[in-house]
Amino acid sequence: MIKTEFIPIHEENIGEKSERAIIEKAGKILSEGGLVAFPTETVYGLGGDALQKKSSEKIYAAKGRPSDNPLIVHICCMEALDKIVKEIPKEAVTLAKSFWPGPLTMILQKSDAVPYETTGGLDTVAVRMPENKIALALIKAAGGYVAAPSANTSGKPSPTLAEHVKEDLDGRIDMILDGGSACIGLESTIVDLTEKVPMILRPGYITREMLEQALDMEVAVDRTLLESGSKQAPKAPGMKYRHYAPKGELTIVSGKPETVTEAIRHLAQEKKQAGERVGIICTDETKALYQADCIASVGARTDEEAIAHHLYAILREFDTKQVTCIYSEAFSEKGMGQAIMNRLLKAAGHHVLEAETILKK
Ligand code: TXA
Ligand code: MG
Repeated sequence: MIKTEFIPIHEENIGEKSERAIIEKAGKILSEGGLVAFPTETVYGLGGDALQKKSSEKIYAAKGRPSDNPLIVHICCMEALDKIVKEIPKEAVTLAKSFWPGPLTMILQKSDAVPYETTGGLDTVAVRMPENKIALALIKAAGGYVAAPSANTSGKPSPTLAEHVKEDLDGRIDMILDGGSACIGLESTIVDLTEKVPMILRPGYITREMLEQALDMEVAVDRTLLESGSKQAPKAPGMKYRHYAPKGELTIVSGKPETVTEAIRHLAQEKKQAGERVGIICTDETKALYQADCIASVGARTDEEAIAHHLYAILREFDTKQVTCIYSEAFSEKGMGQAIMNRLLKAAGHHVLEAETILKK
Protein backbone atom coordinates (compact mmCIF):
# COMPACT_ATOMS: atom_id res chain seq x y z
CA MET A 1 0.00 0.00 0.00
CA ILE A 2 1.15 3.54 -0.72
CA LYS A 3 -0.40 6.74 0.55
CA THR A 4 -2.71 8.23 -2.06
CA GLU A 5 -3.05 12.02 -1.90
CA PHE A 6 -6.58 13.22 -2.76
CA ILE A 7 -6.53 16.83 -3.98
CA PRO A 8 -9.47 19.00 -5.11
CA ILE A 9 -8.66 21.17 -8.13
CA HIS A 10 -10.82 23.61 -10.11
CA GLU A 11 -10.76 23.65 -13.90
CA GLU A 12 -12.00 27.24 -14.04
CA ASN A 13 -9.05 28.43 -11.89
CA ILE A 14 -6.39 26.45 -13.70
CA GLY A 15 -4.27 29.55 -14.47
CA GLU A 16 -4.12 30.63 -10.83
CA LYS A 17 -1.19 30.16 -8.51
CA SER A 18 -2.84 27.66 -6.16
CA GLU A 19 -3.90 25.32 -8.96
CA ARG A 20 -0.58 25.74 -10.76
CA ALA A 21 1.25 24.51 -7.67
CA ILE A 22 -0.92 21.37 -7.60
CA ILE A 23 -0.34 20.72 -11.31
CA GLU A 24 3.42 21.14 -10.87
CA LYS A 25 3.48 18.67 -8.03
CA ALA A 26 1.38 16.15 -9.98
CA GLY A 27 3.52 16.66 -13.10
CA LYS A 28 6.66 15.96 -11.08
CA ILE A 29 5.19 12.71 -9.75
CA LEU A 30 4.49 11.61 -13.35
CA SER A 31 7.93 12.51 -14.70
CA GLU A 32 9.52 10.63 -11.80
CA GLY A 33 7.59 7.49 -12.78
CA GLY A 34 4.61 7.75 -10.39
CA LEU A 35 0.87 7.50 -11.07
CA VAL A 36 -1.72 10.30 -10.90
CA ALA A 37 -5.46 9.96 -11.64
CA PHE A 38 -6.98 13.05 -13.29
CA PRO A 39 -10.27 14.22 -14.79
CA THR A 40 -10.90 14.36 -18.54
CA GLU A 41 -14.12 15.34 -20.31
CA THR A 42 -14.91 11.66 -20.97
CA VAL A 43 -13.99 9.72 -17.80
CA TYR A 44 -11.18 9.89 -15.20
CA GLY A 45 -7.80 8.65 -16.45
CA LEU A 46 -5.01 6.87 -14.57
CA GLY A 47 -1.90 8.66 -15.78
CA GLY A 48 1.72 7.56 -16.03
CA ASP A 49 4.59 8.76 -18.26
CA ALA A 50 3.85 7.10 -21.63
CA LEU A 51 7.51 6.99 -22.63
CA GLN A 52 8.76 5.15 -19.52
CA LYS A 53 8.28 1.36 -19.56
CA LYS A 54 8.13 1.24 -15.80
CA SER A 55 5.23 3.68 -15.61
CA SER A 56 3.12 1.63 -18.00
CA GLU A 57 3.90 -1.53 -16.05
CA LYS A 58 2.78 0.23 -12.88
CA ILE A 59 -0.50 1.25 -14.53
CA TYR A 60 -1.28 -2.37 -15.46
CA ALA A 61 -0.47 -3.52 -11.95
CA ALA A 62 -2.59 -0.83 -10.23
CA LYS A 63 -5.65 -1.58 -12.41
CA GLY A 64 -5.18 -5.35 -12.47
CA ARG A 65 -5.32 -4.99 -16.26
CA PRO A 66 -4.11 -7.67 -18.71
CA SER A 67 -0.87 -6.37 -20.25
CA ASP A 68 -1.99 -7.13 -23.84
CA ASN A 69 -4.51 -4.31 -23.57
CA PRO A 70 -2.79 -1.14 -24.86
CA LEU A 71 -2.97 2.32 -23.28
CA ILE A 72 -3.98 5.63 -24.87
CA VAL A 73 -1.20 8.25 -25.02
CA HIS A 74 -2.54 11.71 -24.14
CA ILE A 75 -0.89 14.80 -25.63
CA CYS A 76 -1.52 18.54 -25.13
CA CYS A 77 -0.50 20.03 -28.50
CA MET A 78 -0.36 18.95 -32.15
CA GLU A 79 3.46 19.37 -32.31
CA ALA A 80 3.80 16.55 -29.78
CA LEU A 81 2.43 14.03 -32.29
CA ASP A 82 5.61 13.90 -34.45
CA LYS A 83 7.74 12.23 -31.82
CA ILE A 84 5.43 9.28 -31.12
CA VAL A 85 4.16 8.30 -34.57
CA LYS A 86 5.93 7.15 -37.77
CA GLU A 87 3.85 9.35 -40.04
CA ILE A 88 0.84 11.59 -39.78
CA PRO A 89 -1.74 10.67 -42.44
CA LYS A 90 -3.78 13.57 -43.83
CA GLU A 91 -6.95 12.11 -42.28
CA ALA A 92 -5.34 12.52 -38.87
CA VAL A 93 -4.67 16.20 -39.53
CA THR A 94 -8.28 16.73 -40.61
CA LEU A 95 -9.73 14.90 -37.62
CA ALA A 96 -7.40 16.70 -35.21
CA LYS A 97 -8.53 20.07 -36.65
CA SER A 98 -12.18 19.10 -36.24
CA PHE A 99 -12.19 17.24 -32.92
CA TRP A 100 -9.03 17.95 -30.89
CA PRO A 101 -8.87 18.79 -28.12
CA GLY A 102 -11.79 16.46 -27.48
CA PRO A 103 -13.20 12.93 -27.06
CA LEU A 104 -11.52 11.31 -30.08
CA THR A 105 -8.67 8.77 -30.01
CA MET A 106 -6.75 7.96 -33.20
CA ILE A 107 -4.75 4.79 -33.84
CA LEU A 108 -1.53 5.49 -35.78
CA GLN A 109 1.77 3.67 -36.53
CA LYS A 110 4.03 4.12 -33.50
CA SER A 111 7.61 5.43 -33.54
CA ASP A 112 10.47 3.90 -31.55
CA ALA A 113 9.96 6.52 -28.83
CA VAL A 114 6.90 4.65 -27.55
CA PRO A 115 7.77 1.52 -25.58
CA TYR A 116 5.92 -1.72 -26.35
CA GLU A 117 4.89 -1.78 -22.70
CA THR A 118 2.62 1.19 -23.46
CA THR A 119 1.11 -0.29 -26.64
CA GLY A 120 0.59 -3.81 -25.31
CA GLY A 121 3.17 -5.13 -27.80
CA LEU A 122 1.50 -3.53 -30.86
CA ASP A 123 3.26 -1.47 -33.57
CA THR A 124 0.45 1.05 -33.41
CA VAL A 125 -0.30 3.67 -30.78
CA ALA A 126 -3.57 5.24 -29.63
CA VAL A 127 -3.36 9.04 -29.25
CA ARG A 128 -5.80 11.57 -27.82
CA MET A 129 -5.70 15.28 -26.97
CA PRO A 130 -8.27 15.76 -24.21
CA GLU A 131 -10.21 19.00 -23.76
CA ASN A 132 -10.31 19.22 -19.95
CA LYS A 133 -7.97 22.05 -18.88
CA ILE A 134 -6.69 20.16 -15.83
CA ALA A 135 -5.73 17.25 -18.08
CA LEU A 136 -4.00 19.54 -20.60
CA ALA A 137 -2.03 21.38 -17.91
CA LEU A 138 -1.00 18.10 -16.29
CA ILE A 139 0.20 16.58 -19.58
CA LYS A 140 2.30 19.70 -20.21
CA ALA A 141 3.78 19.64 -16.70
CA ALA A 142 4.61 15.94 -17.07
CA GLY A 143 6.69 16.48 -20.21
CA GLY A 144 4.02 16.01 -22.88
CA TYR A 145 3.10 12.30 -23.01
CA VAL A 146 0.73 10.74 -20.48
CA ALA A 147 -0.50 7.16 -20.89
CA ALA A 148 -3.94 6.93 -19.32
CA PRO A 149 -6.49 4.16 -19.30
CA SER A 150 -9.76 4.78 -17.48
CA ALA A 151 -8.95 5.00 -13.75
CA ASN A 152 -11.04 2.00 -12.62
CA THR A 153 -10.08 -1.46 -11.46
CA SER A 154 -10.19 -3.71 -14.54
CA GLY A 155 -13.78 -4.98 -15.02
CA LYS A 156 -15.53 -2.12 -13.16
CA PRO A 157 -17.38 0.75 -14.85
CA SER A 158 -15.13 3.69 -15.81
CA PRO A 159 -15.04 6.40 -13.12
CA THR A 160 -16.94 9.60 -13.77
CA LEU A 161 -16.19 11.05 -10.30
CA ALA A 162 -12.95 11.22 -8.27
CA GLU A 163 -14.75 9.25 -5.51
CA HIS A 164 -15.11 6.33 -7.95
CA VAL A 165 -11.34 6.40 -8.51
CA LYS A 166 -10.80 6.41 -4.75
CA GLU A 167 -13.11 3.39 -4.32
CA ASP A 168 -10.99 1.43 -6.81
CA LEU A 169 -7.41 2.70 -6.50
CA ASP A 170 -6.86 4.18 -3.03
CA GLY A 171 -3.51 2.90 -1.72
CA ARG A 172 -2.35 1.86 -5.21
CA ILE A 173 -1.46 5.20 -6.81
CA ASP A 174 0.30 8.40 -5.71
CA MET A 175 -2.37 11.02 -6.28
CA ILE A 176 -5.98 11.62 -7.30
CA LEU A 177 -6.90 15.05 -8.68
CA ASP A 178 -10.58 15.73 -7.96
CA GLY A 179 -11.86 18.03 -10.69
CA GLY A 180 -15.55 17.20 -10.26
CA SER A 181 -17.81 15.19 -12.50
CA ALA A 182 -16.59 14.14 -15.99
CA CYS A 183 -19.02 15.91 -18.29
CA ILE A 184 -19.51 13.32 -21.08
CA GLY A 185 -19.38 10.18 -18.94
CA LEU A 186 -18.44 7.63 -21.65
CA GLU A 187 -14.95 6.89 -23.02
CA SER A 188 -13.68 8.52 -26.24
CA THR A 189 -14.49 7.33 -29.74
CA ILE A 190 -11.57 5.29 -31.13
CA VAL A 191 -10.83 5.48 -34.86
CA ASP A 192 -8.15 3.39 -36.54
CA LEU A 193 -6.25 5.30 -39.25
CA THR A 194 -3.67 2.63 -40.03
CA GLU A 195 -5.67 0.99 -42.85
CA LYS A 196 -7.03 2.40 -46.14
CA VAL A 197 -10.48 3.04 -44.73
CA PRO A 198 -10.76 4.68 -41.30
CA MET A 199 -12.54 2.33 -38.91
CA ILE A 200 -14.34 2.96 -35.62
CA LEU A 201 -13.11 0.49 -33.00
CA ARG A 202 -15.10 1.97 -30.08
CA PRO A 203 -18.17 4.23 -30.48
CA GLY A 204 -18.36 7.41 -28.39
CA TYR A 205 -19.48 11.02 -28.31
CA ILE A 206 -17.98 11.65 -31.78
CA THR A 207 -20.27 9.64 -34.04
CA ARG A 208 -19.65 7.92 -37.38
CA GLU A 209 -21.67 10.64 -39.12
CA MET A 210 -19.49 13.37 -37.58
CA LEU A 211 -16.29 11.60 -38.70
CA GLU A 212 -17.64 11.03 -42.21
CA GLN A 213 -18.65 14.64 -42.53
CA ALA A 214 -15.24 15.92 -41.40
CA LEU A 215 -13.31 13.51 -43.66
CA ASP A 216 -15.73 13.64 -46.56
CA MET A 217 -15.40 9.87 -46.97
CA GLU A 218 -16.97 6.69 -45.69
CA VAL A 219 -15.88 5.43 -42.28
CA ALA A 220 -16.16 1.73 -41.40
CA VAL A 221 -17.22 0.25 -38.06
CA ASP A 222 -15.47 -2.79 -36.54
CA ARG A 223 -17.91 -5.62 -37.36
CA THR A 224 -17.56 -7.19 -33.96
CA LEU A 225 -19.29 -4.11 -32.47
CA LEU A 226 -22.39 -4.71 -34.56
CA GLU A 227 -22.77 -8.47 -34.12
CA SER A 228 -23.46 -9.60 -30.60
CA GLY A 229 -21.60 -12.79 -29.74
CA SER A 230 -19.26 -12.44 -32.75
CA LYS A 231 -16.47 -15.04 -32.72
CA GLN A 232 -13.96 -12.69 -34.32
CA ALA A 233 -11.69 -10.70 -31.97
CA PRO A 234 -12.38 -6.96 -31.89
CA LYS A 235 -9.57 -4.74 -33.23
CA ALA A 236 -9.29 -2.78 -29.98
CA PRO A 237 -7.98 -5.45 -27.61
CA GLY A 238 -9.82 -3.88 -24.66
CA MET A 239 -13.22 -4.37 -26.30
CA LYS A 240 -13.00 -8.14 -25.90
CA TYR A 241 -13.12 -8.03 -22.13
CA ARG A 242 -16.44 -8.01 -20.29
CA HIS A 243 -15.96 -4.47 -19.05
CA TYR A 244 -18.31 -2.36 -17.02
CA ALA A 245 -19.82 -5.37 -15.32
CA PRO A 246 -22.01 -4.64 -12.31
CA LYS A 247 -22.14 -7.28 -9.55
CA GLY A 248 -25.85 -7.88 -10.03
CA GLU A 249 -26.99 -9.76 -13.13
CA LEU A 250 -28.01 -7.16 -15.71
CA THR A 251 -30.67 -7.80 -18.37
CA ILE A 252 -31.76 -5.32 -21.05
CA VAL A 253 -35.42 -5.35 -22.06
CA SER A 254 -36.18 -4.06 -25.57
CA GLY A 255 -39.36 -3.36 -27.51
CA LYS A 256 -42.08 -0.70 -27.66
CA PRO A 257 -41.85 1.67 -24.66
CA GLU A 258 -45.22 0.65 -23.07
CA THR A 259 -44.50 -3.06 -23.45
CA VAL A 260 -40.99 -2.62 -22.03
CA THR A 261 -42.35 -0.98 -18.87
CA GLU A 262 -44.97 -3.68 -18.50
CA ALA A 263 -42.44 -6.48 -19.03
CA ILE A 264 -39.94 -5.03 -16.54
CA ARG A 265 -42.70 -4.60 -13.93
CA HIS A 266 -43.58 -8.25 -14.41
CA LEU A 267 -39.98 -9.53 -14.29
CA ALA A 268 -39.11 -7.37 -11.26
CA GLN A 269 -42.06 -8.70 -9.29
CA GLU A 270 -41.20 -12.30 -10.14
CA LYS A 271 -37.59 -11.82 -8.95
CA LYS A 272 -38.69 -9.96 -5.84
CA GLN A 273 -40.89 -12.92 -4.89
CA ALA A 274 -37.91 -15.20 -5.43
CA GLY A 275 -36.05 -13.18 -2.78
CA GLU A 276 -33.74 -11.15 -5.02
CA ARG A 277 -32.81 -7.49 -4.52
CA VAL A 278 -33.98 -5.87 -7.72
CA GLY A 279 -32.64 -2.71 -9.42
CA ILE A 280 -34.18 -0.96 -12.42
CA ILE A 281 -32.51 1.43 -14.87
CA CYS A 282 -35.19 3.61 -16.41
CA THR A 283 -35.98 7.13 -17.62
CA ASP A 284 -37.68 10.16 -16.07
CA GLU A 285 -40.81 9.32 -18.07
CA THR A 286 -41.15 5.80 -16.63
CA LYS A 287 -39.63 6.05 -13.14
CA ALA A 288 -42.95 6.38 -11.29
CA LEU A 289 -44.30 3.21 -12.90
CA TYR A 290 -41.90 0.83 -11.16
CA GLN A 291 -41.56 -0.77 -7.75
CA ALA A 292 -38.16 -2.23 -6.82
CA ASP A 293 -35.39 -2.04 -4.20
CA CYS A 294 -33.45 0.47 -6.24
CA ILE A 295 -34.82 2.51 -9.14
CA ALA A 296 -32.47 4.82 -11.04
CA SER A 297 -33.39 7.17 -13.85
CA VAL A 298 -30.72 8.05 -16.40
CA GLY A 299 -32.63 11.21 -17.40
CA ALA A 300 -35.14 12.10 -20.09
CA ARG A 301 -35.57 9.43 -22.74
CA THR A 302 -34.50 11.65 -25.64
CA ASP A 303 -31.55 13.23 -23.80
CA GLU A 304 -28.62 11.02 -24.87
CA GLU A 305 -26.13 13.32 -23.17
CA ALA A 306 -27.83 12.89 -19.81
CA ILE A 307 -28.01 9.11 -20.26
CA ALA A 308 -24.27 8.89 -21.05
CA HIS A 309 -23.47 11.18 -18.13
CA HIS A 310 -25.35 9.09 -15.55
CA LEU A 311 -24.95 5.49 -16.71
CA TYR A 312 -21.67 4.46 -15.02
CA ALA A 313 -22.47 6.13 -11.70
CA ILE A 314 -25.77 4.20 -11.62
CA LEU A 315 -24.06 0.87 -12.29
CA ARG A 316 -21.67 1.60 -9.39
CA GLU A 317 -24.54 2.65 -7.13
CA PHE A 318 -26.27 -0.69 -7.72
CA ASP A 319 -23.08 -2.44 -6.59
CA THR A 320 -22.96 -0.50 -3.32
CA LYS A 321 -26.66 -1.20 -2.70
CA GLN A 322 -26.04 -4.91 -3.20
CA VAL A 323 -28.62 -5.34 -5.90
CA THR A 324 -28.55 -8.94 -7.21
CA CYS A 325 -30.67 -8.54 -10.30
CA ILE A 326 -30.95 -5.50 -12.61
CA TYR A 327 -33.32 -4.73 -15.48
CA SER A 328 -32.65 -1.86 -17.87
CA GLU A 329 -34.83 -0.34 -20.52
CA ALA A 330 -33.11 -0.40 -23.94
CA PHE A 331 -32.27 3.07 -25.27
CA SER A 332 -32.36 4.56 -28.75
CA GLU A 333 -29.24 3.89 -30.87
CA LYS A 334 -29.34 7.27 -32.61
CA GLY A 335 -26.21 9.46 -32.42
CA MET A 336 -24.42 8.86 -29.14
CA GLY A 337 -27.07 6.25 -28.36
CA GLN A 338 -24.88 3.76 -30.21
CA ALA A 339 -22.08 4.27 -27.69
CA ILE A 340 -24.55 4.05 -24.80
CA MET A 341 -26.04 0.76 -26.00
CA ASN A 342 -22.55 -0.60 -26.75
CA ARG A 343 -21.52 -0.09 -23.09
CA LEU A 344 -24.84 -1.29 -21.72
CA LEU A 345 -24.78 -4.46 -23.84
CA LYS A 346 -21.27 -5.21 -22.62
CA ALA A 347 -22.28 -4.64 -19.02
CA ALA A 348 -25.15 -7.07 -19.59
CA GLY A 349 -22.92 -9.66 -21.29
CA HIS A 350 -25.31 -9.18 -24.27
CA HIS A 351 -28.27 -10.49 -22.31
CA VAL A 352 -31.35 -8.94 -23.98
CA LEU A 353 -35.01 -9.95 -23.64
CA GLU A 354 -37.85 -8.96 -25.97
CA ALA A 355 -40.69 -7.36 -23.99
CA GLU A 356 -43.42 -8.87 -26.17
CA THR A 357 -42.10 -12.39 -25.75
CA ILE A 358 -42.08 -12.00 -21.97
CA LEU A 359 -45.65 -10.73 -21.86
CA LYS A 360 -46.90 -13.59 -24.09
CA LYS A 361 -45.62 -16.22 -21.66
O1 TXA B 1 -11.94 8.53 -22.98
C1 TXA B 1 -10.96 7.77 -22.96
O2 TXA B 1 -10.47 7.29 -23.98
C2 TXA B 1 -10.36 7.46 -21.58
C3 TXA B 1 -9.76 8.74 -21.02
C4 TXA B 1 -9.02 8.53 -19.75
O3 TXA B 1 -8.95 9.35 -21.98
N1 TXA B 1 -9.40 6.40 -21.67
C5 TXA B 1 -9.74 5.11 -21.91
O4 TXA B 1 -8.69 4.22 -21.90
O5 TXA B 1 -10.90 4.74 -22.09
P1 TXA B 1 -8.86 2.64 -21.76
O6 TXA B 1 -7.48 2.13 -21.60
O7 TXA B 1 -9.82 2.34 -20.71
O8 TXA B 1 -9.37 2.18 -23.16
C6 TXA B 1 -8.49 2.21 -24.25
C7 TXA B 1 -9.00 1.33 -25.36
C8 TXA B 1 -8.88 -0.14 -25.05
O9 TXA B 1 -10.04 -0.82 -25.52
C9 TXA B 1 -7.65 -0.53 -25.87
O10 TXA B 1 -7.66 -1.89 -26.23
C10 TXA B 1 -7.76 0.38 -27.07
O11 TXA B 1 -8.19 1.59 -26.51
N2 TXA B 1 -6.44 0.63 -27.71
C11 TXA B 1 -5.38 1.28 -27.19
N3 TXA B 1 -4.35 1.26 -28.04
C12 TXA B 1 -4.75 0.59 -29.15
C13 TXA B 1 -4.14 0.21 -30.38
N4 TXA B 1 -2.88 0.53 -30.65
N5 TXA B 1 -4.88 -0.50 -31.27
C14 TXA B 1 -6.16 -0.82 -31.00
N6 TXA B 1 -6.80 -0.49 -29.85
C15 TXA B 1 -6.10 0.19 -28.93
MG1 MG C 1 -11.23 1.34 -19.62
